[in-house]
Amino acid sequence: MKDQLIASFTAVYGRAPEIITRAPGRIEFIGNHTDYNGGTVLGAAVDRGVWVAVAANAEPRRRFHSAYSGETVELPVGEPKAQEGKASWTNYPQGVLAALPAFGLKAPQGFDYLAMSDLPAGAGLSSSAAIELASALAFLGLTGETADRETVVKIGKHAENHFVGVPCGILDQGVSGFGRADHLVFIDCRGPRFETVPMPTGTHFWIFNTHTKHALVDGMYAARNKACVDAAKTLGVSLLVEADADALEAGRAKLSDESYRRAKHVIEEIARVESTVEALAAGDLKAVGSLLTASHRSSQYLFENSTEELDLLVDTLTATPGVYGARLTGGGFGGAVMALTDGGFNDETAAKVAAAYRAKYGASPDVLHMRAGDGAAVL
Ligand code: GLA
Repeated sequence: MKDQLIASFTAVYGRAPEIITRAPGRIEFIGNHTDYNGGTVLGAAVDRGVWVAVAANAEPRRRFHSAYSGETVELPVGEPKAQEGKASWTNYPQGVLAALPAFGLKAPQGFDYLAMSDLPAGAGLSSSAAIELASALAFLGLTGETADRETVVKIGKHAENHFVGVPCGILDQGVSGFGRADHLVFIDCRGPRFETVPMPTGTHFWIFNTHTKHALVDGMYAARNKACVDAAKTLGVSLLVEADADALEAGRAKLSDESYRRAKHVIEEIARVESTVEALAAGDLKAVGSLLTASHRSSQYLFENSTEELDLLVDTLTATPGVYGARLTGGGFGGAVMALTDGGFNDETAAKVAAAYRAKYGASPDVLHMRAGDGAAVL
């Protein structure tokens, strides 16, 4: 990929890049919609991601080339302005440029930029966090300024919250930044505090990407976020992480049935993350798998961020030998299902799951066998 990136950059801009960076996508292992509620979450950086190559130019221009579309967007230096339509992908690196001053860092002036990816977009694997972190490291390389890993993560989140306009928590950027091969990333989102936890040997991640996405997915994510914040307020806490199951029951009469179910999902999901950490430490993969599937059922019935397609995959996977557990991964309302499996689950088994899906929906999900990989880095 690196050679291909250098070759493409040279073909587009007529010279070699100065800096090359890469940031991975992520799997949400467990901890659904817990991050912006101040809870805990476990994720894994995957062995696919976004590569960025940059070189300064002496012009008052920033050129952004996407190897995916083959198109270049040229923008003036100065205040980043959000783009629409085909150029809207530049809002991720532009959001990073806009975020840098908020962290006391300079934004580079004129440069030529090229992004390349082997991460499917729209699969719920957070290609947006990957491009944000790869861009942040590339821009820091251009200005020669330094920032620690946590700051790079926060720059990416700031870009997403304030420029792209999605009120996400720190999961995606945190995992992309702190990923480690064959490890899960544990985040206590209140600190935030980041740790890595070894993946049990002999386990595998399989992703089934449905290619379905609710048309209003961003609005629905924001609505869930608001419902949680409102429920916390009604329960008299600043974030749902501060309320436990007893507090929820004590305040139930004050909540609508819908708010109660949203809050119950988050509060129980935070408890499931803790139980998962314990089960991983004890090497109890059966328990880990049950927690993963319980998380999905909670999404399905309480948080209502699953879809019929995702449910079918989870039902099929959990009835398949070799699967410890399966759940939707990420924000929901479409996207992908993740399964944790043993080594006996293979391409043939995965094809049977895909065939069951095709029989019902007429199209095959993308099947990706992934490993937990390293976090964002300058190459
Ligand atoms: C998306 C967001 C994350 C997180 C998940 C749900 O991936 O970007 O911050 O809220 O949804 O857990």
